[in-house]
Amino acid sequence: MKTTIKEAKHYINQEVTIGAWLTNKRSSGKIAFLQLRDGTGFMQGVVVKADVDEDTFQLAKDITQETSLYITGVISEDNRSDLGYEMQVKSIEIIAEAHDYPITPKNHGTEFLMDHRHLWLRSKKQHAVMKIRNEIIRATYEFFNNTGFTKIDPPILTASAPEGTSELFHTKYFDQDAFLSQSGQLYLEAAAMAHGKVFSFGPTFRAEKSKTRRHLIEFWMIEAEKAFCDHNESLEIQEQYVTHVVKSVLENCKLELNILERDTEKLEKVTTPFPRITYDDAVEFLKEQGFDDIEWGEDFGTPHETAIANHYDLPVFITNYPTKIKPFYMQPNPDNEDTVLCADLIAPEGYGEIIGGSERINDLALLEQRIDEFELDPESYSYYLDLRRYGSVPHSGFGLGLERTVAWLSGVEHVRETAPFPRLLNRLYP
Ligand code: 4AD
Ligand code: MG
Repeated sequence: MKTTIKEAKHYINQEVTIGAWLTNKRSSGKIAFLQLRDGTGFMQGVVVKADVDEDTFQLAKDITQETSLYITGVISEDNRSDLGYEMQVKSIEIIAEAHDYPITPKNHGTEFLMDHRHLWLRSKKQHAVMKIRNEIIRATYEFFNNTGFTKIDPPILTASAPEGTSELFHTKYFDQDAFLSQSGQLYLEAAAMAHGKVFSFGPTFRAEKSKTRRHLIEFWMIEAEKAFCDHNESLEIQEQYVTHVVKSVLENCKLELNILERDTEKLEKVTTPFPRITYDDAVEFLKEQGFDDIEWGEDFGTPHETAIANHYDLPVFITNYPTKIKPFYMQPNPDNEDTVLCADLIAPEGYGEIIGGSERINDLALLEQRIDEFELDPESYSYYLDLRRYGSVPHSGFGLGLERTVAWLSGVEHVRETAPFPRLLNRLYP
């Protein structure tokens, strides 16, 4: 019977064949322990000299790291392994030998590993991080489908900039100038006027010269937009969505979280509602905490966000930022016109901002004024203004950065390990 490492649990005490790669091995005169992986998981194969023919035992001792093979044997229960079972090997058929695999079980530096990202993806921890990424994506589609959102795919090649013009990737679009998408938001707003509740999931590009553990040049964003929705209702959707994602990862990625040695206690505490603090109160709080460098009107940096997040130990919404540090499209706060109806969601444990969201300006004249103040070209926003010309309604939305969310839930330090092939300030290869 041909099966996989993951499905082998259904074949206890039965003989199966699995296509796999050898990741590591240990052998003595009488027994060889083969560490195998097949994409679905990692499993030990035990080759006992007395139980196999001489050629098979010799082969087991000689196989090199990352050689591909078909391995046949009986699945037996083993409480010491993560999986709960291993294979008592009967025979081995080599598919392709690998020699001098660059990533050996010893420690390598990060740059070396990043240079070999195409191979590094095979290692146990990197494999676990990608599985968690996949679960977040799966749970995202589940959440939005279950709550009546329609997936709409905004374009990647665009003529306008939603999030400010300084971080745009330029490209030629035949004889026109084009930009790689910074956010699908403006298009999602149009789609929300057609479908009511919409979401998207796609790559996003920011030519930011930031070299931090939270910044990628290319990252994937989940965005949602809802018509007839004020800012507070949007916050409720956000906290329900994030809670659903956290619960799904805790439930469906136990093995992976274990491999990553993630302390799950803090994740288990994540439930709605999330604490909310206004920007004004956050500034006061930071001053009380001894941050003398922060002045009203300035954006928060990593240490500020971390101090606020640590205070709550839960994801926390910082609401109503000053108008002048946020994009042009945000609805003014009726209680204080110097601020806008927006929120950033800050993840616990120092993982930083994972969501940016807001209520959008729905008044045509105000939006025109803002486009003017921001010195944007009104012509490239003409379609966006049409949404306010033809049946404008209050609407709100948000965007969640996938890689930062993966980093938080997996507990990995740096977002470079949360994308399969991260694009960083100094890295376009592999
Ligand atoms: O806060 P941002 O810039 O918001 C928007 O783009 C809105 N248009 C979204 C919307 O309302 N539809 O980005 C949203 C999220 C951030 O909170 C962060 O998680 C992530 O995207 N993000 C990045 N992730 C990795 N690397 C970068 N350079 C990122 N920039 C933003
Ligand atoms: Mg933001």
